[in-house]
Amino acid sequence: MILAPQRSPEGAGGAAPGRRAEAVPLIALHDVAKVYPNGRQALIDVDLLIPEGDFVFLVGPSGAGKSTLIKLLIRDELPTRGAVFFDGRDVVRLRRGEVPRMRRRIGIVFQDYKLLPRKSVAENVAFALEVTGALGRVVRPAVERALAIVGLTAQRDQLPTQLSGGELQRTAIARALVHEPKVIIADEPTGNLDPLTSWEIIQLLLRINDLGTTVLMATHNAEVVTALRRRVVALEEGRVVRDELGGAYHREY
Ligand SMILES: Nc1ncnc2c1ncn2[C@@H]1O[C@H](COP(=O)(O)OP(=O)(O)OP(=O)(O)O)[C@@H](O)[C@H]1O
Ligand SMILES: [Mg+2]
Repeated sequence: MILAPQRSPEGAGGAAPGRRAEAVPLIALHDVAKVYPNGRQALIDVDLLIPEGDFVFLVGPSGAGKSTLIKLLIRDELPTRGAVFFDGRDVVRLRRGEVPRMRRRIGIVFQDYKLLPRKSVAENVAFALEVTGALGRVVRPAVERALAIVGLTAQRDQLPTQLSGGELQRTAIARALVHEPKVIIADEPTGNLDPLTSWEIIQLLLRINDLGTTVLMATHNAEVVTALRRRVVALEEGRVVRDELGGAYHREY
């Protein structure tokens, strides 16, 4: 598989031909703090801009706030202070009815896949669209496209119990892709996978990025982050301590 071309963190300069240069970043956090009800300060003074088309690794030790930052983006949690914007919309101020629509524009991938155990690969992917009321004639081609991107067309009728870890995660990525989201947000997607399979999943995310989807991936995988020389945002104790393009990953997390 071919690596996606390197892009600048500003997006416009390095964007693929034909891609619209975005004046408004796809994701923006301004002066964000998050204190959980138990008093735990999970994020503090976080400023982050992610332009459309970027590929960003979010790194940091356990407890640094990576999952919290992701939860704020999908409005699973609300910030205690500051503003969170997705595609120009203030996520905090969305009306209740607008939240599902916003979430459909984000494809989310977790470490533990979260597949429906009694549904096949294709049914798991289709279900994500069916719950939104999409019609069969829309669902079928969308599922085929997503399965083709992740390379699971041949496994389409297998159940999750009949899949390898890598195939489970590729199913979850297909499910995230089926809405044609603006961004794929992956929280430790390789956390349960061996190094070779992890590498294949990262290659797949890079290819998806190359096809035009922004990718934000939280990871502990130092080896991959160093090798790929992509934008790396590092959190420590809730603060962004580094935001570099192609920066090496200095600490063992
Ligand atoms: N719902 C919650 N209530 C209280 N504290 C929480 C909650 N969720 C997370 N925390 C705390 O907030 C801090 C940040 O947690 P978070 O899950 O964001 O870290 P992380 O960087 O994703 O860690 P890991 O690499 O282990 O997944 C931790 O100290 C954690 O204990
Ligand atoms: Mg986490």
